[in-house]
Amino acid sequence: MVGLGYVGLTSAVCLASIGHRVIGLDISDVRVQALRDGVCPIHEDGLEGLLQQTVASGNLNFTTDATDLANAEAVILCLPTPEGPTGSPDVSILRAAVVTLRDVLKPGAVVVTKSTVPLGTADSMKSWIDRDDLRFVSNPEFLREGTAVHDYLHPDRVVVGSHDPAAASLIASLYAGLDTEIITCDPLSAEMIKYASNAFLATKLSFVNELARICDQLGGDIDAVTHGLGTDHRIAPTFLSPGPGWGGSCFPKDVAGLATLARASRLRVPLIESAGESNRDHLDHVIGRALDMLVGVTNPVVALWGLAFKANTDDVRASPAIELVERLRANDVDVRAHDPVATVDDAIVTQGEMVEVCVGADLVIVATEWEHYAVADLAPVANAMRRPVMFDLRDVIRPDAAEEAGLSLFRLGRRTHAVLPEVTVAP
Ligand code: UGA
Repeated sequence: MVGLGYVGLTSAVCLASIGHRVIGLDISDVRVQALRDGVCPIHEDGLEGLLQQTVASGNLNFTTDATDLANAEAVILCLPTPEGPTGSPDVSILRAAVVTLRDVLKPGAVVVTKSTVPLGTADSMKSWIDRDDLRFVSNPEFLREGTAVHDYLHPDRVVVGSHDPAAASLIASLYAGLDTEIITCDPLSAEMIKYASNAFLATKLSFVNELARICDQLGGDIDAVTHGLGTDHRIAPTFLSPGPGWGGSCFPKDVAGLATLARASRLRVPLIESAGESNRDHLDHVIGRALDMLVGVTNPVVALWGLAFKANTDDVRASPAIELVERLRANDVDVRAHDPVATVDDAIVTQGEMVEVCVGADLVIVATEWEHYAVADLAPVANAMRRPVMFDLRDVIRPDAAEEAGLSLFRLGRRTHAVLPEVTVAP
């Protein structure tokens, strides 16, 4: 397994847990040493325990030395492909790794791409590596951060794309112990399935967030709407929760990547293009509502609950919460933040304990759906605030609990009888 980020590490640990012998390669000495000691460098549910078990079983080893992969039957590449300047993924890290592996791999080895790559990359690899005795497979990942171990061991499907049936069947056999459908196809289609899945899910969320905005404006109830929508089995009830907008290291990059690839082929893909546009509009709507709640307040103070782009991860990449901080600060709002796990530089926002950040605040915004907020005792929060108003973007706060604590609770796309407290103007 080459690259031990959340995808590579989860894949290495899970493959070892279902009986395969795995060597994880990473360039970071510190990371490799920590992993050998059974210390997981990322916050991922269940990963550290499984890491310790698989290291102890002898199925999993770690190295920084590429020559240790000389006997590998398959080399699975899980390297970053960040968004490049044109919007298309930058494959330079992947390409450099492949070139390094050229002099290491044994004849017949299968080179597998798990990273999300521009369409056609599995085919380009042959020319990058310039060896006729290697075989190539695209095997995209569908792991959600925070539930990556569960998703790996209980996949909806496994996609294996190759022009070489024997290589495809070797990679498919890695998953033989899992109860799932294996979809085999050509490598470009496999690469496209990954983009299509992320772009579709992002579009589904942009759609539901637009419905929430319509409910905000016209008075409908988004829970009733998504329930009615999701019971149609063709639509499905999952991935229909409105929020502050989609973020993270995958959706923004993959939606932009797919649109850029289409544009480069002179294709118009207005639907895919507009998923991102709608997501930006949604954050404008959220900021607009938050600022409306602060109208008339002198030197407004906001406490933000949640910095991670979603719950159960410490990842703040492209987190809507961070953009909220920046946009509020640009509007002269003093912002403090709490997150149970994620941390950011003090220059971005000062962090403190959950109630501590609410002292003297005029508004609490719940940006991440951490369980900590769902079970929080709200009375001390309301008492600590200058003005007890809460804007829950994730629907984790119980309206009756907020009312009991004396908080005016506002949510996205849901009716409320809460009223904003009068602004008391200092004499
Ligand atoms: C996503 C995909 O779900 C994975 O299948 C894929 O493998 C991964 O990208 C990737 O390409 O590596 P992830 O970015 O971890 O996984 O996060 P999701 O759980 O999909 O959430 C994405 C965004 O949508 C988050 O900002 C989340 O808060 C938001 N979201 C999700 C909602 O606002 N509402 C929902 O109902 C679900």
